[in-house]
Amino acid sequence: METLVQRLGYVSLDVVELETAVRDAEIISGARVVDRSPHRVLMSSNRRRAELVLYAAAQSGVRCIGLEALSADAVDNVKARAQRAGLVVIAEKPSLEFVDRAVTFLTSEGHAIEVHTPLPKDQAIRYAGAGIHPLCIDHVNLNSADPKKLSDELQSVLGLRLSERTTNHELVWLRAGDGRHHTVGIVGAPAAGLHHFSWELRDFNDFKRLGDVLDTEDRLLVWGPGRHGAGDNLFAYYFDRSGFLVECTAEMEVIQDLNHQPPVFDVASLAVNPKAGNRWGQLPPPSWVAHSNSFVQHRRAVG
Ligand SMILES: [Fe+2]
Repeated sequence: METLVQRLGYVSLDVVELETAVRDAEIISGARVVDRSPHRVLMSSNRRRAELVLYAAAQSGVRCIGLEALSADAVDNVKARAQRAGLVVIAEKPSLEFVDRAVTFLTSEGHAIEVHTPLPKDQAIRYAGAGIHPLCIDHVNLNSADPKKLSDELQSVLGLRLSERTTNHELVWLRAGDGRHHTVGIVGAPAAGLHHFSWELRDFNDFKRLGDVLDTEDRLLVWGPGRHGAGDNLFAYYFDRSGFLVECTAEMEVIQDLNHQPPVFDVASLAVNPKAGNRWGQLPPPSWVAHSNSFVQHRRAVG
């Protein structure tokens, strides 16, 4: 199966307090503002023009997950595959005016996925300011009422490849063309949503700074630091001021082997063997397990 997307492009969120959300991303993760209007702010941590796109809205939610394709042909291919799979294409005009080609479809559960040609890389690679200054935005985890079905859809429409899963698909990790163990993770949940998005940090010193920065704001990490079993990545999570769960990660496994055989493990082992979730032992708190942010389009559709 041809991989049609290369990596996570951006995460697009509705927030009630736009300036609060922007300040939060600036002082904690350390992304910087690239473009600002009263209604929308573009933020990035590297040369790419947008990684976190924040819109002022009456209610917080997820607008879409942007996945970067390498060519317009790949975008067209995704559109054809989505339609063949019976999925609804909700836009063919890019949501960002500086993107050449894009298609946005809804998964059968209502996750909005925008596959787009590469974002302009026209920003300075280094910049001043507070926060951690991550390398990039690197993955999302989606909540799903039917992870097996969603996993099959994303593999057949986007060409994502299975990196690892649990026995009954309670947890699934899918990789894109860049080989990261997961660009899209899927976790079984009562309903569709975004569980978390993630910034990639440089090394473990950044995690110390993350904890200290949160402490200066009189805030706490939700889970971590630790090292995930699946993906072998360092992690720490916090809630941002808009109620989204943000992961900071580093050292994620990269899978280049085209003959990779996805490991399968029993989710029950998380209870008896915490190492499956965190090599260092600590299990996530209930607030992490239960977290979900709904997709705006899905919320409109179901009323
Ligand atoms: Fe994650």
